[in-house]
Amino acid sequence: MKLQVPEHIAAIVPYPPGKPQDELEREYGIRDSIKMASNENPWGPSPKAVAAIADSLNNLHRYPDGSCYSLVQSIADKLRFDPEQIVMGNGSNEVIEFLVKAFVQRGDEVITSHPSFLMYQKIVQVRGGTNTVVPLREMNHDLPAILKTITEKTRLIFLDNPNNPTATVIDPNALEDFLFRVPEGVIVVLDEAYIDFVDSGLRPDLHSLIRDRASRCAVVSLRTFSKAYGLAGLRVGFGLMSPRIADCLHRVRQPFNVNNLAQIGALAALEDNEFYELGLQRNRDGLAFLQRELAALGCRCYPSQTNFFLTDILGDAAELYEAMLYKGVIIRSMKPYGYSHLIRITVGTTDENERLVVALAECLRDLGRV
Ligand SMILES: Cc1ncc(COP(=O)(O)O)c(C=O)c1O
Repeated sequence: MKLQVPEHIAAIVPYPPGKPQDELEREYGIRDSIKMASNENPWGPSPKAVAAIADSLNNLHRYPDGSCYSLVQSIADKLRFDPEQIVMGNGSNEVIEFLVKAFVQRGDEVITSHPSFLMYQKIVQVRGGTNTVVPLREMNHDLPAILKTITEKTRLIFLDNPNNPTATVIDPNALEDFLFRVPEGVIVVLDEAYIDFVDSGLRPDLHSLIRDRASRCAVVSLRTFSKAYGLAGLRVGFGLMSPRIADCLHRVRQPFNVNNLAQIGALAALEDNEFYELGLQRNRDGLAFLQRELAALGCRCYPSQTNFFLTDILGDAAELYEAMLYKGVIIRSMKPYGYSHLIRITVGTTDENERLVVALAECLRDLGRV
């Protein structure tokens, strides 16, 4: 077989997902592993979402509603946007893909930060676009450096806010100032996958930013049901944007891109406010517990506005990651991101957090770091 693989496709390094628990247990011959690596909601999905999905299983022979009518209406009501400003995706990842498909042609430039969520750059590579990568400054998006990097070929700027993996948040005033300086033809994408966890005073005022204004760049916000809403396995996310941008994204999407069960589960989760609020409170408690206990072990913890945080584990991160796997605890080494002494930990359930602290203390001792 003679395969003609285009050069820009051959150059793509596939996204490295967190290690699956089944794989760990098979490879290491262990049981009862815990995963605190992929920023999921450890408390599971809303029971109301599960019940709604169970009730709808007999409809699997039908195509889903391609417009996601009920879900879009419900999001529009809750967030006070017009339905025409909402585009649903198979995870917010798919909305990232729509944006790149709709606005980036071969040779166009897209600005991202490093380190930040890896998918932006990969999707741009698929499209044959050019990634312009701006290093973070003290773990924050370097907005002045990004402004200097914009050229007439720049189409999109991706800013994850909070940033994954550093958990830092852009100051809303600095963001506002930045947006006024970005040229009109560029779209700034605020990836707000973790915005639910952020203190309300630190969240940008999306209504004013997204409004279609003359002489200012367009802003798109990306949201997901994978984090605070606990539905990562269903794959539902959405974008909030001007109707003109939404119209472009609808042109490039598949007609049934969000499946039936995902629409039904997300709708029920959206209405289960009690579960949502409880999850946020549990996350705050878990984050405070972990950071307190890790600090007591001598590990410097970086502040976080999310359900994950970075910590300095006093030596090589890859070595500690491996040692933790033997204890059945999956975390993320930040070595591949250029932070050789940092790991990223996702807040778990109360039991998981306690197990992580015990395992980490043992590993640090075994490795001679404390
Ligand atoms: C910053 C950021 N954006 C987007 C996503 C993807 O979200 P979804 O599951 O909605 O595709 C993630 C997932 O980890 C993320 O960290």
